[in-house]
This record gives sequence, C-alpha cells and structure tokens, in this order.
Amino acid sequence: MLKVSGLSKSYGEQVVFENISFAMSQGERLGLVGRNGTGKTTLFKIVLGEEEQDAGTISMPRYYTIGHLSQHLKFSEGSVLEEAAKNLPNSEDGIDETYKAEAILMGLGLTEEYFSLKPSELSGGYQIRLNLAKVLVSNPSLLLLDEPTNYLDIVSIRWLKKFLQSWRGELMIITHDREFMDSVTTHTMAIHRSKVRKVSGATEKLYAQIIQEEEIYEQTRQNDEKKGSR
Ligand SMILES: Nc1ncnc2c1ncn2[C@@H]1O[C@H](COP(=O)(O)OP(=O)(O)OP(=O)(O)O)[C@@H](O)[C@H]1O
Ligand SMILES: [Mg+2]
Repeated sequence: MLKVSGLSKSYGEQVVFENISFAMSQGERLGLVGRNGTGKTTLFKIVLGEEEQDAGTISMPRYYTIGHLSQHLKFSEGSVLEEAAKNLPNSEDGIDETYKAEAILMGLGLTEEYFSLKPSELSGGYQIRLNLAKVLVSNPSLLLLDEPTNYLDIVSIRWLKKFLQSWRGELMIITHDREFMDSVTTHTMAIHRSKVRKVSGATEKLYAQIIQEEEIYEQTRQNDEKKGSR
C-alpha cells in the first residue's frame, strides 16, 4: 500500500539512500534493520514528510493514514484517559469506544489509577507511553515504530508484541530486539550499502543473504584487484 520508488537521499557528501525502491502489500508488517547510521530513522522521516528526499517518490492510497510515536510531549486534555480517547477514529454506529483506549492504556502499564491524572502529572517515561497509546488508539493505516520497546517494561513489551501480532494494518518497525521483531513481522528489510534488500520472513533469512552477497562482493573485489595488478 506504501510504494517507494527511486528514492535517493544524501547529507552533504554522505549518501544515505541511492535509488531505492520497495513496496508494502496490504497487512504487511515490515521489520527494518541495518547498522547504526544506515538511515532507518531517515527513511521513517521521509515517509512521514518530516525530511525531504533528493529524488524519488513515496506514494500511498488517498485514504491512507500514517501514525508514529511522537517524541513531542504536548497534551491538551484534562486527563490521561481523555487524552488517549481523543484519538479514537469516529465510530460509525455511534457506540462509545472508550473501552478500546482503556485497554491500550492498561496494556502499556497505564492502569486505571492513572486514568484521571492530568497527562502532565505522569513521569516522562509514562508520557511517552501515553503518546504510544494515542498512536495505537488512532488505528492508522500504517504504523511506524522506531525502537518502541525502549520505553517499556517486560510486561508491556509482551502486551505490545501480542497487539502488533494481531495488527490489521501495515507496520514498519525498527528494533534492536531481534526476537521481538521476528515475532511481530511478516517481512524484513535491511538497509545496506545505501540500498535496501527485502525478504518475506525473519531477520535470519535476510542476514544469510547479505552475508552471501558480501562474500561474492569480496571475491569479485579480490579478483578485480588481481587483474588490476597484472
Ligand atoms: N539532519 C541530518 N544532517 C546530517 N546528517 C544526518 C542528519 N540526520 C541523519 N544524518 C546522518 O544520516 C545517517 C543516517 O542516520 P539515521 O539516523 O537515519 O540512521 P539510523 O539507521 O536510524 O541509525 P541508528 O541505528 O543509530 O538509529 C547517519 O550517518 C547520520 O549521521
Ligand atoms: Mg535511528
């Protein structure tokens, strides 16, 4: 549903992406991997329109919505529950769906005793959890999560895992926790040498491919070197 075509991005001399293309199918949950500084967060920013690409296009259906975990801690409602419920999509049959917001808050460790607190009364870490709850409550077409487990304890990580496993929309997730990633994703994509490589399945399959490619690359390079020195 999301289609990235011919995307290039550099910061000065540093090439982050060089003409990359990929598409996500309906219901796809994509794990994004790559060493530090390879451009994972930059890709998210470009998809969100927070950062501009040098070339290429990002396309999606007209009705498509994208949700991400904002680092901005800005709340407008008088209570934690109201703040989370504010993002509920309009219910077609007019049924009150506040219970959905409650379930998500509780899953993330914001149990009932927090519901009536002012958002500003929460600790910084819990304010981030509230932001995460708001994104999940908003039920976007595509959910972008950059290291979401950093803000969570074991119990809420386990809850988030289950929640994402039954996520009906699309998901793109960055996490250093391979076990977590493999348990929630349907596809995996690596950023490597300014290009992307995507497989259906888990990280292991992708890493095996990359290692094999690196061996071929190294072999070719050595052969070229031999030729060059002749
Ligand atoms: N605004 C910027 N100006 C200049 N260079 C930038 C900017 N943002 C990112 N970069 C560089 O672009 C590269 C990609 O950064 P990015 O943050 O996307 O990597 P990442 O894969 O998310 O890394 P990490 O795993 O550490 O989170 C890095 O080398 C980074 O230094
Ligand atoms: Mg990053």
